[in-house]
Amino acid sequence: MSSVQSTGVRASGLRVRVLGAGIVGLTCAEELVRRGHRVSVWDPAPGSGASYAAAGMLCPAGETWHGETDLLETGRASARLWPALAARLGVRLDTAGTLLVGHDAGDLQEVGRQAGLLEALGEPVEPVDRRALARTEPCLGRAAGGFRLPEDLAVDPRSVVRALLARLGDALCRRGWDLARDPAPGPDHDAVVVATGARLPAPFAGLVRGVRGEVLRVRSDDPPRHVVRGLVRGRPVYVVPRADGELVVGATVEEHDAAPEVTAGGVHRLLDDARTLLPGLDRATWLEATARDRPGTRDNRPLVGPTHLPGVLLAAGHSRHGVLLAPLTARLVADHLESGTVHHPWDPRRNP
Ligand code: GLY
Repeated sequence: MSSVQSTGVRASGLRVRVLGAGIVGLTCAEELVRRGHRVSVWDPAPGSGASYAAAGMLCPAGETWHGETDLLETGRASARLWPALAARLGVRLDTAGTLLVGHDAGDLQEVGRQAGLLEALGEPVEPVDRRALARTEPCLGRAAGGFRLPEDLAVDPRSVVRALLARLGDALCRRGWDLARDPAPGPDHDAVVVATGARLPAPFAGLVRGVRGEVLRVRSDDPPRHVVRGLVRGRPVYVVPRADGELVVGATVEEHDAAPEVTAGGVHRLLDDARTLLPGLDRATWLEATARDRPGTRDNRPLVGPTHLPGVLLAAGHSRHGVLLAPLTARLVADHLESGTVHHPWDPRRNP
């Protein structure tokens, strides 16, 4: 049986072990199976990491800030892969777009700066003044105005994980991993793809750090149609509607060493800001609060591709963008395994 070197050797019918059954690992597995490779996915608790908390905004534009404009290019490339992936999985893509809104005049000025950057980068941006906003989204009664990003999409990550697990069937092994004990290539596999989110095994553990995010879920009788990304007195908050009236409200961002836990302060902050934008949330029914770690990297870029260990690839470090970047990551991983190509900005062997 052929094996995969870190330099990349052409191979077909590979046997690939994917560690981690979050949205990134499962999407890599689905892409490899689609290309005719044999895949097993190892995870003691599939779909229980960052994918479980994620809101599912496919917002390359809405997530672009000054100093992080390279995300727009890769984010757009990955967003273009999402409609085909969603169709294969039978999951719904929300296409209403994103509203960037400011609560007061200062917030609107700041939002306007982001909109200006996006326009300069060629992104379609539609200004929406206070009156137009009241017509478009009456539930945003108090916002000063904003901008519509018509091309942004959204998806429910929990539905995606369920659909991927169903599609992969017996390929899933509910067990953990030990790269020292189960080296790659091994007797029964040619390559290992490490996609374990914010908890990478040795020797990669130091490449990512946990960045805690808390999110809330409520059910509303007055949901917005669009994904809403707001600034409220300088603080960012987003509200992502699902077809059944569920709203995901997020998210806190906190560097920390301890296990991620929901805090009273986090819940208070998110509810306070979301209710300021959407007063109707007062009538929403409570569903849950969740905390998970995002996998942050030193240079805020993912780690996707070969490592210094032969046959071991990383598909990790996606920070705030794991759901958006999953299909592009899967393509890069499969391309590398088949033909040795490397996407250099995400090469895990770089030294930021
Ligand atoms: N992608 C949104 C977040 O990480 O909060």
